[in-house]
Amino acid sequence: MSLKLVLPLHFLFFFFFFFFLSSACASTSTDQSWIRTMEEFSGYPTHAPGPPSLPVDAEGLQKQIDELSAFSDTPAPSVTRVLYSDKDVAARRYIKNLMEKSGLSVREDAVGNIFGRWNGNDVGLAAVATGSHIDAIPYSGKYDGVVGVLGAIEAINVLKRSGFQPNRSLEVIMFTSEEPTRFGISCLGSRLMAGSEGLANALKETVDAQNISFFDAARAAGYHIDQEDFRNVFLKDTYSSFLELHIEQGPILEEEGVSIGIVTAIAAPASIKVEFEGNGGHAGAVLMPARNDAGLAAAELALAVEKHVLESGSTDTVGTVGILELHPGAINSIPSKSHVEIDTRDIDETRRNIVVEKIHQSAISIAKNRRVRLSEFKIINQDPPALSAEPIIKAMEHAARQLNLSHKLMISRAYHDSLFMARISPMGMIFIPCYKGYSHKPEEFASAEDIANGVKVLALTLAKLSQS
Ligand code: GLV
Ligand code: MN
Ligand code: MN
Repeated sequence: MSLKLVLPLHFLFFFFFFFFLSSACASTSTDQSWIRTMEEFSGYPTHAPGPPSLPVDAEGLQKQIDELSAFSDTPAPSVTRVLYSDKDVAARRYIKNLMEKSGLSVREDAVGNIFGRWNGNDVGLAAVATGSHIDAIPYSGKYDGVVGVLGAIEAINVLKRSGFQPNRSLEVIMFTSEEPTRFGISCLGSRLMAGSEGLANALKETVDAQNISFFDAARAAGYHIDQEDFRNVFLKDTYSSFLELHIEQGPILEEEGVSIGIVTAIAAPASIKVEFEGNGGHAGAVLMPARNDAGLAAAELALAVEKHVLESGSTDTVGTVGILELHPGAINSIPSKSHVEIDTRDIDETRRNIVVEKIHQSAISIAKNRRVRLSEFKIINQDPPALSAEPIIKAMEHAARQLNLSHKLMISRAYHDSLFMARISPMGMIFIPCYKGYSHKPEEFASAEDIANGVKVLALTLAKLSQS
């Protein structure tokens, strides 16, 4: 192409680029004359000095994060949004509206995973997907998961405003119930998508703490699930790549002043439910030698969890007793039942499994020594770790470099829907800093600037992967 022809084309591009920029998020134009291929798109730095200028509407995105946080069962600044609750249903409606406003075609599967698709030039090719969750554990914050859903929709808006047209379709996913709050099952939506027959079967019997079945809870939220529908949730060969944008939930990026974390692996979680049963009795009348206190068995097991985790000798091994319930729960009654839920994780699966086995042995010996019954020791899940795909790591690194953003490779100690998406698609994750690494509490915070940086890296990576 001659220089004479190139200059007017660039002039036209810049004219329309700034036109789209000034009309901010409103434009979802499909006018074919301004659609550009990735070759042109990645040509930004060659004709304009400096990094690609991706017009993120950071203010609009912050407003959406704030609006979504109002769908909560606890007062601000905390957020509590539990699967299939009224607030969850309202928040889902909010997300579907935003997807539609961005010109995405929206569909939902049987359990309420929500998909918004932007058709690429070649709809026969596997799509590039990105997304996260919007459910929130009790008294948590407004950024966990949310940044990866609203940020994904904004990344699509950014690409549309820039006149980009994908070759592979791009899809935003809002996953159902990444958090285990209601039914004790983490990553319920993505686990099913990844084809978990075990979960599809277990859901037939699953009830929440109020004894409401999974099916009834789903029905109340508008999802009339038939057992066979679970098979329709399973996906295979649907995506060529999956990306998730998320707050780090740890302090490293903030402490080191790094803008972007590029995740290489996700630590492997296991969760366990334990129940002890004793005779209970009157807190004054039953003398100490005659007791078999189920509460003390639970307390001893909690300390054993800490001991076994520390014995691993690695700071990568962690263990938490996040739930410890006593029955009947009266100050003057010896606990006759106790219920303990344990979460233990590691980047090394074998080491994590050794901890699980030690916890099991401790539960058996504590029950024996305290003459209580170990009525349940159930491993709810014992997931293997996931590795990010090398080409996606490279694409994310390249995008961060193009955007002049400092970045580092790191592992994710929290689990994410990406852990399961990695089973059906090459996977990668983008982390952004969050205040003091706080998460799962109301103080969780990420700055608008850091979120915008994450959205830019996501947009540029999606653009690249959609052309490959
Ligand atoms: C996810 O919420 C986790 O607990 O890692
Ligand atoms: Mn979480
Ligand atoms: Mn999360």
